[in-house]
Amino acid sequence: MTYLFCNWKMYLTNNEAMALASELATMQIPKTLTAAVFPNTMDFIGVRDALAETSFAVGSQNVAWVPQGAYTGATSAHLFHEAGAAYALVGHSERRHVFGETDEDARKKVEACMDVGIVPVLCIGETKEDLDAGKREYRLKKQLRAALEGLDIPVNSLMIAYEPVWAISAGGASDSCDPDVAQEVHMWLKQELRAYSPAPFSVLYGGSVTPENVVSFTACPAIDGVLVGSASTHTNQMRALLTACA
Ligand code: 13P
Repeated sequence: MTYLFCNWKMYLTNNEAMALASELATMQIPKTLTAAVFPNTMDFIGVRDALAETSFAVGSQNVAWVPQGAYTGATSAHLFHEAGAAYALVGHSERRHVFGETDEDARKKVEACMDVGIVPVLCIGETKEDLDAGKREYRLKKQLRAALEGLDIPVNSLMIAYEPVWAISAGGASDSCDPDVAQEVHMWLKQELRAYSPAPFSVLYGGSVTPENVVSFTACPAIDGVLVGSASTHTNQMRALLTACA
């Protein structure tokens, strides 16, 4: 099974998100593919309804760990679960580096998702500074340990996305990770993840994935799928991604 997960970030207006969801509802998802879209919270319910008769799952881009209460501006895993989220991104690099979320926050969010039955997609990745300082493995180990140590992780209840921060586009062109390097990192990550559960985890690659390069990642044996940002917000690129992943 290959995963095509689509993080729409805050790229789209409500009208644009709804138009894209209506287009997606007409597209064929290959049988070997699990596809999910992660719309902005504003658009979650509308997109969920537009995709209700399709095989696209819907996920949240972030969650708050407390279930309900006096938490201005927050939307909890509990509320997203009630609204039909199957997955949630946790610890995305933009949450960590723009909004200052910590490894400890990521852990609370992972736990909150697992408590309600949403599959958290724990996003990890080194910065350019980490990479230049030879600290990729150090950073990834630290992020994994802080989020997962001591957790009871049933089979298929958690996924990992390896998204090198330096490879993530800000809407324009950016350098993706060399697929051979990504394959090596994924192999190493799968070895590391054995410390947290004997059952294998699905590990996705994210960072400047496009219809043109997606197969170079999905063809790697240790890469279970992709988490696509910018390219997944364009109808023609979504159609091409689905075709390429077939
Ligand atoms: P891009 O595909 O735009 O580089 O974004 C990757 C990402 O951050 C997905 O979560």
